Amino acid sequence: MDPRASQSTLLHTPFCDLVGIRYPIVQAGMAGGPTTPEMVAAVSNAGGLGVLAAARLTPEQLREAIRAIRAQTKQPFGVNFLLAPPEPGNQDVLTVQRFLDHFRQKFQLPNGQTNLTLPPSQLPQQLEVVFDEQVPVLSVGLGDPNHLIAAAHAAGSRVMAMVTTVEEAICVVEAGVDVVVAQGAEAGGHRSTFTLGPRGEVPLVGTLALVPQVVDAVRVPVLAAGGIMDGRGLVASLALGAAGALLGTRFLLAQESGASIAYQERLLAATEIDTVITPTFTGRPARSVRNRFVEEYIQAEASPLPWPLQSLAAEDLYEAAQKRGEADYFPLLAGQGLRMLKRGQRSAEIVKELVTEAQAVLARLQSMDG
Ligand SMILES: Cc1cc2nc3c(=O)[nH]c(=O)nc-3n(C[C@H](O)[C@H](O)[C@H](O)COP(=O)(O)O)c2cc1C
Repeated sequence: MDPRASQSTLLHTPFCDLVGIRYPIVQAGMAGGPTTPEMVAAVSNAGGLGVLAAARLTPEQLREAIRAIRAQTKQPFGVNFLLAPPEPGNQDVLTVQRFLDHFRQKFQLPNGQTNLTLPPSQLPQQLEVVFDEQVPVLSVGLGDPNHLIAAAHAAGSRVMAMVTTVEEAICVVEAGVDVVVAQGAEAGGHRSTFTLGPRGEVPLVGTLALVPQVVDAVRVPVLAAGGIMDGRGLVASLALGAAGALLGTRFLLAQESGASIAYQERLLAATEIDTVITPTFTGRPARSVRNRFVEEYIQAEASPLPWPLQSLAAEDLYEAAQKRGEADYFPLLAGQGLRMLKRGQRSAEIVKELVTEAQAVLARLQSMDG
């Protein structure tokens, strides 16, 4: 058999058949703007699965974004939501705002508001849009999706849920999800742990240990996530028994990425030792590059408000800092694979490179055989 053909076959997994894509490569939905409709469509057109982050979109914005994706691709794509309900915890808004005011001074912002009220969840209306628009894949993180699986299936969507432990994987598979994403501790962004410990603790199982244990425990395709940046990581995921890989950080620097230049430059300057898992940005543990904001929280031993109140409290500061290109004062969510980032690639080029590299790795491994 032509060795290249066999390597392509090895890259084609049951996950590809399940969602109707060519390569087992998923671009993670990343809330806050990085995953534009252009990126999602480009990844899907290149043979992977592009996923739009919908957590912060109004139902109208979401419908518009889905239609923008559809205008650019006929291939399957996904839409992602964060399911974590508001957490209990430190509700001392006044103390937190006075702490944040110290950062606000730098941007000549008025003192932060102390009468914060969380807006009601828009998830039911957002889901209605997803089902109405017949989005092929519904992707969820940070919580148990059992309440929405039947409706998703009835609308013809596959459901993909992100977990951080074997127990969570079993729980979502028993509830009927079609695909499990095993998120290792290396991953950028929020930990997908469903229930935080009493002091906000989360289990931190690395990708290498988590993926095979999840694969052994469930009978649906599993995707590996966390620190996967190139074809080596993709082949390693398959070697662990995964049916594909989900990558977030690698796509932050794509040409279609909505991440700001200041954010991208800080990521390029950072290394594998520069990230930390911190609740300071949103109230839920998330992996971010350490910046002054995180450092000062740590030094002061200050507590943020619980999820998602902290984001609401600090959103004026994050917005001003983004506008001014001050990467020290807004979240720099990213995983540990930072030295493997590349500047200026198109999303399609990233997918293509992952495939070519993976085929080369497979060929090298085969040549070692006997
Ligand atoms: C900037 C950023 C934002 C993220 N936002 C989301 C999100 O909105 N929903 C979600 O399910 N996962 C989110 N994630 C986590 C990814 O789903 C995934 O677990 C992670 O990116 C994998 O690790 P990697 O970044 O090392 O590739 C985010 C990750 C990053 C880096």
